[in-house]
Order: sequence, then structure tokens, then C-alpha cells
Amino acid sequence: MKVKSKIFETITIGEHRLKNRIVMAPMTRSRAETNGVPTDIMSAYYSQRASAGLIISEATQISLNGKSYPNTPGIYSKQQIKGWKKVTDGVHEAGGKIFIQLFHGGRISHPDTQGGKIPMAPSEIKPEGAIHTFPFGKKKQFITPRAIESTEIKEIVHQFGVAAKNALDAGFDGIEIHAANGYLIDQFLRDSTNKRTDAYGGSYQNRSRILLEIIQETGKYFNLQHIGVRLSPLNNFNDISDSNPLGLYSYLLEELNSFKLAYVHFVEDGLTSKNLDFFNGVSLTLGKYYNGKVMGNGNYTFERADSEILEGVVDFVSFGKLFISNPDLPKRFMLETEFNIPDENSYYSGGKRGYIDYESLEG
Ligand SMILES: Cc1cc2nc3c(=O)[nH]c(=O)nc-3n(C[C@H](O)[C@H](O)[C@H](O)COP(=O)(O)O)c2cc1C
Repeated sequence: MKVKSKIFETITIGEHRLKNRIVMAPMTRSRAETNGVPTDIMSAYYSQRASAGLIISEATQISLNGKSYPNTPGIYSKQQIKGWKKVTDGVHEAGGKIFIQLFHGGRISHPDTQGGKIPMAPSEIKPEGAIHTFPFGKKKQFITPRAIESTEIKEIVHQFGVAAKNALDAGFDGIEIHAANGYLIDQFLRDSTNKRTDAYGGSYQNRSRILLEIIQETGKYFNLQHIGVRLSPLNNFNDISDSNPLGLYSYLLEELNSFKLAYVHFVEDGLTSKNLDFFNGVSLTLGKYYNGKVMGNGNYTFERADSEILEGVVDFVSFGKLFISNPDLPKRFMLETEFNIPDENSYYSGGKRGYIDYESLEG
């Protein structure tokens, strides 16, 4: 047994004591009702995974026009809050902690998913490729989004605040702001998608502004020590990039230092020869600029997670795909057992299969 590993030790964020440093990464699973209300199987799914030190929920939209994919949950209606309460109650009864990932998809959407409205984005730049619309399985080409008016930005920031308040009412222990993977906040941060000439485009300071305003707004409802931020400085997923990731993210992290947040969550994807500044990894390179706790993510094995925690590169590690198919992942790490293999075909397929039917170890 790996009893000497630091990964199984507790860690404190704000008022929460996490029982280990093994986090369940946020993962969209498209099991909500079409109106974004969480279902009972979602409560079962998250409760099964309550042995994680922390669960981060799937991306959850703050408004209908923040929705990217069919059957994803929201946190802007009374019914959605009620549905999420069943999830958080289930996780708490099973001894776990759960943060909600607050999200706006920006241009990564389609009018069919937003009640006919054209998706909005920092600038009118169409992503390459196609996106799932309803019903699941049909992909349609992205369309050119409309540029968000300067005056609309305040409304989006306000909606993040309302979503945070709703998350508190729904019983969440904290929130993670999704500023990664090419969705709205990331579209503001990175310069391939932000060509604005107002106070929200241009300099690092201007491109970071919406995220910093969202942190301030959500901080009216949640203790800042219970707010995390997810960043993916090199990930090109959703057709996004930046001309100087080290410049942008070192600036941003120094700004984030002043908030004393729960953590910064780095997605490691995108380590290519074009990013030599990051030769040793995102967390190691950017961790130098950040004073608070760092969460690593992206194809981590147990061994890598354990040694990076021991070396102090990261404080905790989130696991995605392994948690889909292994509800008792911490126990499997501890006992060094085999893992169930996740079935990719049921990631977003709806229903119980490939969702709540993965087996835990006996006893
Ligand atoms: C099915 C699936 C859904 C995902 N949905 C989200 C999401 O809602 N929000 C997010 O930030 N990342 C999402 N991701 C990315 C994961 O959080 C994670 O970064 C990725 O799976 C790499 O970690 P892993 O190698 O441990 O799986 C998703 C990944 C998968 C496989």
C-alpha cells in the first residue's frame, strides 16, 4: 500500500479539509434534462465518486446563451437549483465535497442550442469545425458569432454573480470559474479570438479584465478561498491560441495572487516544440508566478501525480477519464489495483449506461 504517499494526506482550502489530494476533474456528461435541470442519475453518479478529496462538477452554464452542448446543466433557474441540491446532498451524505464549474461557452455553441439566438463572443471569429446540437449525434458547422457589445459585458459578469449565489443556495462547497479550453472567458484571454479595441481587448490587462471582474462578482457570494480558476495556457482545443502564453499567463497569475483563491487549476495539454518556454510543463513553468495552491491536470498517472505533489510542483491533481470508469479511484490508487477502462461512446450519450454502472471494488 502506498501509505507514505503525500497524495493521500489531507489538504485545507479555506474552511474545507479535503481528505486527500485526488480531485475529480470537471467533465461534461450530457445527462441533464433538455432545460438544464440536473437529473437523479447525476446525483447517483457524483455520490459514487465522493471518495475524491474534491469533486468539480461538469461545466454548468450561467445563462441559456452560455450553453454549448445538449443536455448540459445550468444554474440560472429555480428548478436547476433544486436539481443540483439533490446532487450536493448526495455527495455530502457520502462524505464528499463538491465545487461547481461555472461556465459560458461563448462562440462554442449553435443557435439550435440557444433557443435560436446567435452565439456571442469577444469578436466575430468563427471557430473551425462542427458542434453537437440536439438530438445528440447530429453535428452542425459552427457559425460566425456576434461580437458582445461593451455594455453587455457587465450583464455577463452579473450573471456569473447570480450563478454563484444560486450555487450557494444549491449547497455547493465552492466554485471553479472555467477560464480554459476555448470557452468564453478563454476567448477573452487569448488573442486569436479577441480582437477588441475597448477596455476588454488588446493588452494583457484588458484581456484579463473580464475574468478578474467575474472573480470579484462571484466573491460577493463565496469566500474567495472557496473559488478556483481553471486555465489552459497551451491547449488549442476549440480552435484557440495565444501569441505569447508566457507573457499573458504570468501577468494574469500575478493579478490572481492578490485574491488568495482556493487554487489555480492548470490543464497541461499542448506541450509542443512551439512552446519551448513550457518545456518542463505548465504547472512547473507558471507555478513560479503564483503564490497559492496549484492543481495539475491532463493525462496524469498516479505515479506522476504522487511525485509532483511530493516535489511541490502541484498541491493536488485532478483526474478525468480515470474517474469516469473508476468511481472508487482513490482506493484503487491506494491498493494499486487494475482500472476499469472508460467507454468513450457513452461519454455524452445520455442514460445510465457508461455513467453509473462502472463497478467499485468489493468490500
Ligand atoms: C467526457 C469529458 C468531458 C469533459 N468536460 C469538461 C468540462 O465540462 N469542463 C472542463 O473544464 N474540462 C472538461 N474536460 C476535460 C477534463 O477535465 C480533463 O482536463 C481532461 O480529461 C484531461 O484529464 P485526464 O487525462 O485526467 O482525463 C472533459 C473531458 C472529458 C473526457
